[in-house]
Amino acid sequence: MVVERTFSIIKPDAVERNKIGEITAMLESSGLRIVASKRIKLDQDKAAAFYKVHADKPFFQSLCDFMCSGPIIVQVLEGENAIQKNREIMGATNPDEAAEGTIRKQFAISLEKNSIHGSDSPENAIIEINHFFNEKDIIS
Ligand code: CMP
Repeated sequence: MVVERTFSIIKPDAVERNKIGEITAMLESSGLRIVASKRIKLDQDKAAAFYKVHADKPFFQSLCDFMCSGPIIVQVLEGENAIQKNREIMGATNPDEAAEGTIRKQFAISLEKNSIHGSDSPENAIIEINHFFNEKDIIS
């Protein structure tokens, strides 16, 4: 098994409802270790840069507005198969399709306000981590 790192955002809808602790407990219970974490507020430029892969989608501007609407928690998670493990515990993007016991099933409000983001590939994990963290800020 390979120890990997992945990137996670606890989104404004979950931070606003004071769910940071409950979501973090679910991540840790799945075997992931939080090796970097900070509370920040995005601006439009940073949100657009982070989600630029979705720039041509109809939901792009609404997504950027939502992600800038309040504080978020950005985290680096580490563990065996961390990318896949994180996606399993997050659940499907659309909470209507998320499995029982997943974070999105339990906390998401809608497809947009879906409480958590996680990297979908090793390549994107590196890119996304580098948006927010320097290597010296990640302590295994
Ligand atoms: P996330 O995993 O952060 O990746 C892109 C985000 O866009 C997604 O979660 C949702 O919050 C948001 N989104 C809004 N509408 C859609 C849609 N139709 N399909 C996928 N993602 C959407």
